[in-house]
Amino acid sequence: MTDITALLAEATVKIKAADDLQAVDQLRVHYLGKKGVLTEQLKSLGEIPEAQRPQWGKLVNEAKKSLQQAINEKKSAFILIQQEQAQHGQKLDVTLPGLGQNLGYCHPLTRTRQRIEQIFLEAGFELADGPEIEDDYHNFAALNVPANHPARDMQDTFYITDTLLLRTQTSPIQIRVMEQQAPPLRLIASGRVYRSDTPDLTHSPMFHQIEGLVVDEHINFSHLKGVINHFLQCFFEKKMTTRFRPSFFPFTEPSAEVDISCVHCNGKGCRVCGQTGWLEVLGCGMVHPNVFRQVNVDIEKFSGFAFGLGVERLCMLLYGVTDIRFFYDNDLRFLRQF
Ligand code: DAH
Repeated sequence: MTDITALLAEATVKIKAADDLQAVDQLRVHYLGKKGVLTEQLKSLGEIPEAQRPQWGKLVNEAKKSLQQAINEKKSAFILIQQEQAQHGQKLDVTLPGLGQNLGYCHPLTRTRQRIEQIFLEAGFELADGPEIEDDYHNFAALNVPANHPARDMQDTFYITDTLLLRTQTSPIQIRVMEQQAPPLRLIASGRVYRSDTPDLTHSPMFHQIEGLVVDEHINFSHLKGVINHFLQCFFEKKMTTRFRPSFFPFTEPSAEVDISCVHCNGKGCRVCGQTGWLEVLGCGMVHPNVFRQVNVDIEKFSGFAFGLGVERLCMLLYGVTDIRFFYDNDLRFLRQF
């Protein structure tokens, strides 16, 4: 007669020690299978004295039941581990640092415009605005641009009708403000302008300008120089060497273009400044009497200066951007750098 109790104890220890599902299954076959150790015990019931049979049978059956239960429990434990392992990749590990939110932020041109506006607002200028679809009168005629001026050419200007066009400059805002308000005036106005240019490194058919206008008694060219030099120093955050170079604009007399000493080579001459050591940054001048006459400003009493600058140009110089088209491509690899 086999010692069933000892057999059960040995089997239980082995099941508990099993490494994996396969090992558990092998033990099940070994003890409980058709030819398993315990099954064989029941088969040998006939060899046992009759009086002991019921007790013996009960003992073996209970041992089988108990082993089956131990096997089931061990199997369940392995299945649970397997499921957990499968899910592990998707599991939320609350101890990891958060992924964070992708916050939107300002486009570099917006940042540059705000930076420029802020400098002038702090100097007492006010913001003005005007339409992108302009008429011939405000964009050209009132600004002393004669009818046969090349700027009016179809190649430069996007005409909508014979008299309506996409503004080619922010200067018409000067006219619109002076039609509404009497001097003294101190304003800046920003916005999109359009020209029929083929896109390249420095040209785009749409770009952004900022216009400035100051009208008051006794305004002279020194005021213009002072304001522009102050602005450039604030914008580039360092003392700038500037050069006011005589130029021509129909709406200013005298007119000047302002150069800064090249921000890349400090005036020594490089590829960026075309070996000249200078970079042109804006146009300006004293408001032409013909412009004042159009808007009924008394030219005996008042004088003024105006200036216009390209936002893209200043942004490119500030951040070292080499192609104007980057601003409009919406490539996040570019935009995320600002
Ligand atoms: N409107 C000019 C342009 O687009 C820039 C400009 C030059 C504006 C001189 C001005 C100015 O107000 O006085 O090229």
